[in-house]
Amino acid sequence: MFSSLWYGGDYNPEQWTPDVWDDDVRLMRRAGVTVATVGVFSWAKLEPADGEFDFGWLDDVIDRLHAGGIGVDLATATAAPPPWLAREHPDTLPVMADGTVLGIGSRQHYSPSSATYREYAARLATRIVERYADHPAVIAWHVNNEYGCHVPRCWSDESAVAFRAWLAERYGDIETLNDAWGTAFWSQHYASFDEVMPPRAAPASINPTQQLDFDRFGSDALLALHRMECDIIRARSDKPITTNFMGFFKPADYWRWAEHVDFVTDDAYPDPADPRAIPFAAAVRDLMRSLAGDKPWILMEQATSAVNWRPRNAPKPAGMFRRLSLQSIARGADGIMQFQWRQSVRGSEKFHSAMVPHAGEDTRIYRDVCALGEELAGLTSVIGSRVPSRVAVMFDWDSWWAVEQTDTPARVSYIRAVLAWHAALYRAGVTVDFASKDSSLDGYDLVIVPTMQVVTPEVQARVAAASGRGATVLVTYQSAILDEGLGVLPGGYLGAWQELLGVRVEEFAPYAQPDQFFDAPATVPVSSLDGELAGGIEGWSEVVHADAAEVLATFTEGLAAGGPAITRRAGAEGAGAAWYVATQPSEALADAVVARLLADSGVAPVATSASDEVEAVRRGDRLFLINHGATAAEVEWDGGAATLDAGEVRVV
Ligand code: GLA
Ligand code: GLA
Repeated sequence: MFSSLWYGGDYNPEQWTPDVWDDDVRLMRRAGVTVATVGVFSWAKLEPADGEFDFGWLDDVIDRLHAGGIGVDLATATAAPPPWLAREHPDTLPVMADGTVLGIGSRQHYSPSSATYREYAARLATRIVERYADHPAVIAWHVNNEYGCHVPRCWSDESAVAFRAWLAERYGDIETLNDAWGTAFWSQHYASFDEVMPPRAAPASINPTQQLDFDRFGSDALLALHRMECDIIRARSDKPITTNFMGFFKPADYWRWAEHVDFVTDDAYPDPADPRAIPFAAAVRDLMRSLAGDKPWILMEQATSAVNWRPRNAPKPAGMFRRLSLQSIARGADGIMQFQWRQSVRGSEKFHSAMVPHAGEDTRIYRDVCALGEELAGLTSVIGSRVPSRVAVMFDWDSWWAVEQTDTPARVSYIRAVLAWHAALYRAGVTVDFASKDSSLDGYDLVIVPTMQVVTPEVQARVAAASGRGATVLVTYQSAILDEGLGVLPGGYLGAWQELLGVRVEEFAPYAQPDQFFDAPATVPVSSLDGELAGGIEGWSEVVHADAAEVLATFTEGLAAGGPAITRRAGAEGAGAAWYVATQPSEALADAVVARLLADSGVAPVATSASDEVEAVRRGDRLFLINHGATAAEVEWDGGAATLDAGEVRVV
């Protein structure tokens, strides 16, 4: 799709005068910039009054970039409506669950379900695409920006109408909805769709299925906006389309979104002060590659150094900007973009780092920007090459939404439950793909199903079939508790996976919540029957019956003490082993389980190192070795060994 790696950033020329634009092009060329994302927040400048368009300045900017050999990722500019739209049409503003109307003076102040917003956004996008579709500088379309970042949901009357239409489409008739939502409970029975409301502020907890459907609807409502703009573009241009995702972003089910972009893009801001942010960032890159499937993915935004939106904004220390960029390339990215090109001097983001900082070009940051541009120019041949993985970790937005509702056995962080396993595989040097409930599991030798609370018969069958053909499977606690309508799977939970795993769950027994001021987070040991599965667990135990599985570790405290905590059912005749971990493991315990899973599945690490801070990933015929640590580290791989200096990246 693209012949060079994308390198550049969000470019907001409307914040500057034309003499600065010339300097921008000069500095971009010096830095090896190949692409600028233009116009993301330009609506007020492009349409200063209703129906009055001014494209002259944008023509000028795009022509200058083109003359400098820089491609343009052109935004449809619909992410921040101008003040006049809210004044003329207050119905475009979003309404919160408590009735608060969000106002202007910031950005993204539109209701996804507002017909008026859609009409104005469609008109603007149409004008932009018609004007620039054939401009040789334009290489891609950037639809809106970070859908749902600030306004993931709207509870307005107009959104209520849209929610009802979505429900009518899903359920057909109101009695089907009543059955699915279990409205016999608390006198919630509806006589018609007209009575149904979005989950607005209410006296106590709102019907869980209503909440889940509002999440599904909310993601779809944003996606409908995106698709509207895609239709406008595709009717007038065959250049590729994207919209920037935000990693593990709860409000948008990106499995459903990914099919509606031509290439996946992601905005990622790992906290430079938090070492856990590095394996987490690796997981985000893996999610993007998995969402993209056969399509490219590009890192659309990152910071060269500090952001401005945390309570304290640490700068990136020397080398981290490069290491995190190459981490993305290693994990499949075909480009590295930044927010933003030139650091603002006014407005909310003036303290956010950029490629050209306030201090100008004679700076650490701009020198690092130039060095990375040069390095990426030498990596062009990675484009399109694949990142092999034999391990799939399943990730499911329905389960995320459901498991984090209130009125559950315990507050569980879904991301923590899932990423504990990704992180353990990362520490083991194993590359992981993510899989949705609908993804094919063919080709994976190890399938991990963490806390998939909401299941369908199809996903239960697909996971069992993977085991049947020899893949090792791990299912963890709070999986297969509910069907898609959040109805309980009775008779020991786990549904069809009881047979796969050889276990059933009789009762939940979470441990007391540590007091946030007085207690250290409690970890309780499990007792390992073979001495190998050592380490603690957090928060959760349950009463498990291992009817047809070997018990490898038991709980030591509480109601479930003495009962199975970790079980393994050996695979018969070509089938893979099926593991159940009935709790949230500590790092040490997850590492011990992963070592056993790798042995069962025959999956080998890409490389091994005594240091947890060494990352090793294969992409195409290259091996990327990254030492995120502050000391030198030895690393060994099939056919080689090396000592990496502190902070070193080596591409073999
Ligand atoms: C109260 C209510 C019941 C039920 C219980 C749950 O007692 O009257 O309807 O909700 O709480 O603990
Ligand atoms: C997001 C937005 C950008 C900018 C950055 C700041 O990624 O898309 O416009 O606000 O955050 O980190």
